[in-house]
Amino acid sequence: MRSSWFNKLSIIIGPRPPVNWLFLCLISLLVLIVVLGSSSSNIDDQAPDIPVSLIYTNYRRVKEQAVVDYLELRSVARGVSRQREFDLCGKERENFVPCYNVSANLLAGFKDGEEFDRHCELLVEAERCLVRPPKEYKIPLQWPAGRDVIWSGNVKITKNQFLASGSMTKRLMLLEENQIAFHSEDGLIYDGMKDYSRQLAEMIGLGSDNELPQAGVRTILDINCGFGSFAAHLASLKIMTVCIAPYEATGSQVQLALERGLPAVIGNFVARQLSYPSLSYDMVHCAQCGIIWDGKDGRFLIEVDRVLKPGGYFVLTSPTSRSQGSSSQMKRRNMLMPMEELTQQLCWTLLAQQDETFIWQKTADVNCYAYRKKHAIPLCKEDDDAQSYYRPLQPCISGTSSKRWIAIQNRSSGSELSSAELKINGKYCVQPEDFFEDLQFWRSALKNYWSLLTPLIFSDHPKRPGDEDPLPPFNMIRNVMDMSTKFGGLNTALLEEKKSVWVMNVVPATASNSLPFLLDRGFAGVMHDWCEPFPTYPRTYDMLHANGILSHLTSERCSLMNLFLEMDRILRPEGWVILSDNMGAIEMARTLAAQVRWEARIIDLQNGSDQRLLVCQKPFLKK
Ligand SMILES: *[C@@H]1O[C@H](CO)[C@@H](O)[C@H](O)[C@H]1NC(C)=O
Ligand SMILES: *[C@@H]1O[C@H](CO)[C@@H](O)[C@H](O)[C@H]1NC(C)=O
Ligand SMILES: *[C@@H]1O[C@H](CO)[C@@H](O)[C@H](O)[C@H]1NC(C)=O
Repeated sequence: MRSSWFNKLSIIIGPRPPVNWLFLCLISLLVLIVVLGSSSSNIDDQAPDIPVSLIYTNYRRVKEQAVVDYLELRSVARGVSRQREFDLCGKERENFVPCYNVSANLLAGFKDGEEFDRHCELLVEAERCLVRPPKEYKIPLQWPAGRDVIWSGNVKITKNQFLASGSMTKRLMLLEENQIAFHSEDGLIYDGMKDYSRQLAEMIGLGSDNELPQAGVRTILDINCGFGSFAAHLASLKIMTVCIAPYEATGSQVQLALERGLPAVIGNFVARQLSYPSLSYDMVHCAQCGIIWDGKDGRFLIEVDRVLKPGGYFVLTSPTSRSQGSSSQMKRRNMLMPMEELTQQLCWTLLAQQDETFIWQKTADVNCYAYRKKHAIPLCKEDDDAQSYYRPLQPCISGTSSKRWIAIQNRSSGSELSSAELKINGKYCVQPEDFFEDLQFWRSALKNYWSLLTPLIFSDHPKRPGDEDPLPPFNMIRNVMDMSTKFGGLNTALLEEKKSVWVMNVVPATASNSLPFLLDRGFAGVMHDWCEPFPTYPRTYDMLHANGILSHLTSERCSLMNLFLEMDRILRPEGWVILSDNMGAIEMARTLAAQVRWEARIIDLQNGSDQRLLVCQKPFLKK
């Protein structure tokens, strides 16, 4: 309607009204508000039984509408067509992950494995559309049931791939009608992970895997995690296990792990460092992960050393079935020889070997490097805590001069950092006072949030046929992404409330680097530039949360519309988004949310600031 009178005006005045005219328009709207506002208070005078808050709400609604109208007018004036809802993309984009186009990478001249790496610089601006769910898509089961059973229509895997999945962490899956079942430990048959994990603990010298956290193992990076069964087992021991695996068009390990509610992100060993700072993980695990560790002058092993904390473990479980000709004794020797040389140079000691499993321990003694042979791998010279976002693999050993060089066996055992550890991080980004203030803020914010996450807040929310009245969600959220975290406050508050979620803490690449601090706390985290797509599959998160990211990004070079399309891609149908920002940014976000077809409500926290929340839910679009 608005645009039709505007079109008529355009015919009379011409297609592009002068900007002054727009301001005139705005001013008349403001005058209208003042008139309405004063007439409201007149009514108030005459009829004292109308509550003031109602009038205030109406007044606010008019004011908000005025801002939206102004934004619309402005976009019309710029020649942008009236905002419309985006269409669904074609079926071929159901599992679309941007930046991993092998044929485009080959055309651009990438080779030697680099064609499989992430290359966002080659991303061409395609037609904007919403990635649709597959036809058989079903809302995932709630945690923990969803850890053991997923809908086969939700992931892209071929029957042959499924049957051929032969590796240890993959083979024990059963396909039932439209479900993929992973064995639960309490089931009649279990997947062997319990035995495997106990074996690892014993090799380290512990009585059982329950003792791993006390021994300093709280976070594990699982390279090419199969279908995440190792992580699924360790989750019950409160060990944070993050899966990384390369992009795979079908049968993706990252997609399956996330579908099961386990932390995972696309990442690979090709030419660049992983997007973690040095000294990040207590253990790096590779079970038949297919990486040739002694290749490329040991660069990949040096990268493992970089992300390992002092005293941390590297677990390698090698293929069993391939070389049947040679005796296992021979095979062990063949595999160990080149590794032996490299690991000595890295100051790792072979702690134990059993069957096909080897465990090395990284030195906790920084003086070890001085006693190595001459011509060994050099120590890096640059600032070791430099942000590793798109940094090439280094031929040198990192982290040795870091203040964060603390043996994992010597850390405080609780999940909270000691004040000494806080102080160390304070050198980088965290002041203890800021940290505790931030935490208090999130404790109270979370109480608000959880009550907002119910379809009830959308009064016009369509109920699905046969649904009971919607209840506040209980376990329906498992995979949470905090798109711009500072100190992991949301993560901490969720854990304190005993919600069965895990949080992918994203530290924006341009923000101050708090990632080392977050990883030291045992959280999952990654660095990311939100002007680029996030390295994950569609529909992998249940909730996205972003505090202040809109007002931050409007000052950047990238498009907010693209950000919303990307958020829509990674959010599962019926998933939630909570945006927190100043009023102007939230108003803009509401317009964008309408274009990606989310249900959206602005929530005024009524605390006197101009901060607003936009709570959104993505609909389950079929068609
Ligand atoms: C991948 O790149 C090729 C060559 O540039 C292009 O034709 C194709 O459309 C791209 N595919 C996707 C899914 O973007
Ligand atoms: C742990 O700390 C103690 C006391 O500060 C020290 O003697 C010991 O060498 C440390 N252990 C490791 C593995 O660094
Ligand atoms: C109100 O809440 C917002 C966000 O929840 C917060 O940033 C702001 O500081 C609060 N303002 C006051 C005056 O308490």
